[in-house]
Amino acid sequence: MGNVETVFKGNAERLKRRVPAGELTTPGRFAKERDRIFRRSWILMAKEYEIPNKGDYVARPMPMLDLSVLIVRGADGKVRGFHNICTHRGNKLVPDGKGNLPHFNCRFHGWAFHNDGRLAVVTDEGQFRDLDKSLLDMRAIDTEVWNGHVFMYFGEGPHETVREWLGPMFDQYDGYFEQHKMINSRIVDVRCNWNLAINAFMEGYHTLYIHAKSVPDYQGGPSNPERHRPFMEMFDRNIRYSAPSNPNHKQTRAETLAWKYGRQALPAFDGDMTGMPPGINPARAKNWAFDVVQFYPNTVMILGNSFHIDLSFWPIDENNTRLTGANYMYPAKNLAERLSQDFVLSRGRFVVREDLSTLEAQHAALKSGALTHFQLSQQETALQHHYRVAADILGE
Ligand code: FES
Ligand SMILES: [Fe+2]
Repeated sequence: MGNVETVFKGNAERLKRRVPAGELTTPGRFAKERDRIFRRSWILMAKEYEIPNKGDYVARPMPMLDLSVLIVRGADGKVRGFHNICTHRGNKLVPDGKGNLPHFNCRFHGWAFHNDGRLAVVTDEGQFRDLDKSLLDMRAIDTEVWNGHVFMYFGEGPHETVREWLGPMFDQYDGYFEQHKMINSRIVDVRCNWNLAINAFMEGYHTLYIHAKSVPDYQGGPSNPERHRPFMEMFDRNIRYSAPSNPNHKQTRAETLAWKYGRQALPAFDGDMTGMPPGINPARAKNWAFDVVQFYPNTVMILGNSFHIDLSFWPIDENNTRLTGANYMYPAKNLAERLSQDFVLSRGRFVVREDLSTLEAQHAALKSGALTHFQLSQQETALQHHYRVAADILGE
């Protein structure tokens, strides 16, 4: 019995099928990743929908770099990023969380900053001799917005723009994300290295096995029993692939009900691709289920016809990772559609739990020294790519 043959596109040079992995869980490797990968990449830090109005802000940690980051929509409507610190003696300006403020006021000695970062007030200013206020605006972080996604760059310039960083992907998703509304979000702490955690969401080889009970036949079927991805495309840093749906999937009763009242989110595409931007199902593969895109280094998005999911992996230390993410779906017009969406969400929760269930064991295997390499198949090309990109940046 045949399988779909994966069509590969892009830079497959120097990919290794046997990837050294023993070092991943060491503090030394972690320090290198911190200083050279996470300070030299555009990192997804927030979404525009979190700060829709002028003066809205979100303050959140960037744990790997021990930073608190402030993302603000200024009085001029522009989104900017700052270190969440006062330029007097470094007190934190606002607690982590969300809000709306015309000014950021420091509790320590009362300095104030406009929400575009300019210094507004130095209290008892006369006591500061020869004060050069131009040195005292809030510390900016390079911030760019792409299709509603707020990316930040934590290293020193010069560096690439987001357009350069995303390459051909930059123009290929216009109009896609804003069709969906955030309907729930998650935070999960996992006791494993971040590379292992993100890798669990970067291949479909596992679906036949670890998801055998939860979603037994969403993918695969007689024409593609091993569930090969129809299409994979490698860019300089990012990678994307399309996942196959099973045209012979047998609907369960719950699904029949859910798809009666709402759009069929999974397993199969329930409409045509007309109007979808070129980045979605880029090869226009038949029996398409959804795409998986890694925004290197630490975000994976799952992009479907009526939903999308994002998952970001925040390294805490070499042994611990925080996963944050959200589900987005078409806006429900009525309660029936909302219930149909809840069905998708509850199924998704189960699947993600399975995805996370092997991570502590994998981590322990590396820590013990008993496993020194990952032997990777073509269906795990995104992992080969992930480690090739890291090796390039780390100069290995
Ligand atoms: S540290 Fe903020 S006013 Fe002194
Ligand atoms: Fe999975």
